[in-house]
Amino acid sequence: MGLYEVYSHPVLTRYKASVCSRASVFVLVVYLLTYISPLLITYRSQGFWLKQSSYEEQPQVRFQYEMLMIGVTDVSGDYVAWSTFSNFNNLLGDKLRIPTVSVRESDRNGDGKPDRLSLQLSVPLSSKEQIYSIQLLLTFSYQLSRMSVVVMQTMVLLQSLSPVPVSQLFISGDLKLQQKEPLSHRGVHTDYNVSVIDSESPFASTYDLTTIIRNYQERNLTTYLSCPVPVWTVGRAASAPFQINAEIRYQWRQ
Ligand SMILES: *[C@@H]1O[C@H](CO)[C@@H](O)[C@H](O)[C@H]1NC(C)=O
Ligand SMILES: *[C@@H]1O[C@H](CO)[C@@H](O)[C@H](O)[C@H]1NC(C)=O
Repeated sequence: MGLYEVYSHPVLTRYKASVCSRASVFVLVVYLLTYISPLLITYRSQGFWLKQSSYEEQPQVRFQYEMLMIGVTDVSGDYVAWSTFSNFNNLLGDKLRIPTVSVRESDRNGDGKPDRLSLQLSVPLSSKEQIYSIQLLLTFSYQLSRMSVVVMQTMVLLQSLSPVPVSQLFISGDLKLQQKEPLSHRGVHTDYNVSVIDSESPFASTYDLTTIIRNYQERNLTTYLSCPVPVWTVGRAASAPFQINAEIRYQWRQ
């Protein structure tokens, strides 16, 4: 003969302990693990099934105090030049013009990473020389650390041309990163932690801007200056130096 349930009631068992007992601490820990660990796991995994994502980070940029400047002084192609590379300066002969340079890197928001570079160059010129175009190469060390760890040496080339002789060039722009492929999230990326210009080289071809740019653009990670409007000022007094003022922001959100 089969049995059937005639009646049922739940049983509640209470376990009591004082607040300062091991049992209470254990229960507290179990509660914390139940609620906090899933939160931590979801937060730290940056989304469970993400394959690709983007984020923003202010890079640690430092000007390396390396410059190369070329100014065209007449329409037939004469030029004056200067650089911080003594081998290049030695090749210049009487085209060398040593400018007065003033450089300042400032950190406006106080986070320990410089936010902008202010650069002034005064290039002495003879009264017969005029400037029509300027090329100025600057090198930087560039580091990312938030997700991908990247240490590299990069450059920007400022280049501007005027149809009439000018006395001053003002450039204000943002230093931007150009990436051809996603960065690895593991390891330290130091493939490009090499000088853009080999300062030891005695050969003129090393300092040729075409060669430098050709090699540089082969990289998967480069920086460039986004500067839509370089401003020229015309009218130079006969003996006055040519002035270049550049402001380069490393962080574009102030
Ligand atoms: C990058 O290069 C600089 C200069 O060559 C060197 O001092 C630095 O240790 C290098 N950094 C890494 C992470 O390789
Ligand atoms: C640059 O990207 C190409 C194509 O994805 C890759 O084959 C090459 O290894 C990368 N170079 C470096 C130095 O990461």
